[in-house]
Amino acid sequence: MTTIFTEMEQTTRAMLARGKGILAADESTGTIDKRFKGAGIANTEENRRDYREMLFTTPGMANYTSGVILFEETLFQKSRNNTPLSEVLSRQGVVPGIKVDKGTIAQPFCAGEVITVGLDGLDERLLKYKAAGARFAKWRAVITIGAGIPTQSNISANAQALARYAALCQAAGIVPIVEPEVLMDADNTIDTCFSVTECTLRTVFAELATHRVSLEHMVLKPNMVVSGKKCATQAGIDEVATKTLVVLKRTVPGAVPGIAFLSGGQSDEDATAHLGAMNAKGALPWVLTFSYGRALQAPAIKAWAGKEANWKSGQAHYLHRAKLNGAAQTGTYSSAMEKQFATV
Ligand code: 13P
Repeated sequence: MTTIFTEMEQTTRAMLARGKGILAADESTGTIDKRFKGAGIANTEENRRDYREMLFTTPGMANYTSGVILFEETLFQKSRNNTPLSEVLSRQGVVPGIKVDKGTIAQPFCAGEVITVGLDGLDERLLKYKAAGARFAKWRAVITIGAGIPTQSNISANAQALARYAALCQAAGIVPIVEPEVLMDADNTIDTCFSVTECTLRTVFAELATHRVSLEHMVLKPNMVVSGKKCATQAGIDEVATKTLVVLKRTVPGAVPGIAFLSGGQSDEDATAHLGAMNAKGALPWVLTFSYGRALQAPAIKAWAGKEANWKSGQAHYLHRAKLNGAAQTGTYSSAMEKQFATV
């Protein structure tokens, strides 16, 4: 008999396969609008479908892509030849996942801070998503650095929601990606990011324990420890890699099978180099991989630009970044590989 735990074990193993990582293609309709605008693409349902179909049919994508996080709309869309897009993925051995949070709202009495919503009715939605092929889920909490923030009130509220979401997913046999993102948009130093990330992860793992979440059947999706984008002093690759690993070793139990980073606004090359540097440092308690949105897709969106004639070029740009991040996952990435661009 396949229990929900053996099912989740298989899913987790597939998500964390060697040399691969997760494509976060779960931009909400509002977020993809921002990404499309930059490339002059109209944000229509057809373009969103075409764009995702282009990525998912990239020849060889399964060599470097273990799973894809979908937005709800995409989970129920079909390809041009009438195959559900989730099946386009699963037929290649790529695991389909689904973003299940419903975005953020301002937290009352905590100026400048937001909490993630979407728990009501989630148990029923999960059943629907599972029937449509989703095997893992994602919930993103947002922690903002600023004057006097984050507050413990905000970190605790977000951590509790993440834990309640994770427990609901596991009860349905769906592997939860637990994503507490400390934003990198402010002018803070890397050391502020370090302490906020440490506090956030400690709080998240305390809540996961309170809510009886099985650590063996989840994937953590954290930010890396980086300098704020507006900080005058930007930490180098090795400092980011070293400080990120110190925080993770202090806070993430070895029972967690894998950690898949978000890119959070880092440049494509930085996101790859940071992951590569961490994996080149030797044995770690968990698999360390990527679950990038922007850092995997930015060149592909630009190359495609919404034009049929650019389909293959868009795919080639996706494959290039996926391949380099796949190398970073095994600690074999070097910046010289950035020049090895191949057509598909
Ligand atoms: P970025 O890599 O663009 O930060 O997106 C990852 C993600 O899934 C954010 O929720």
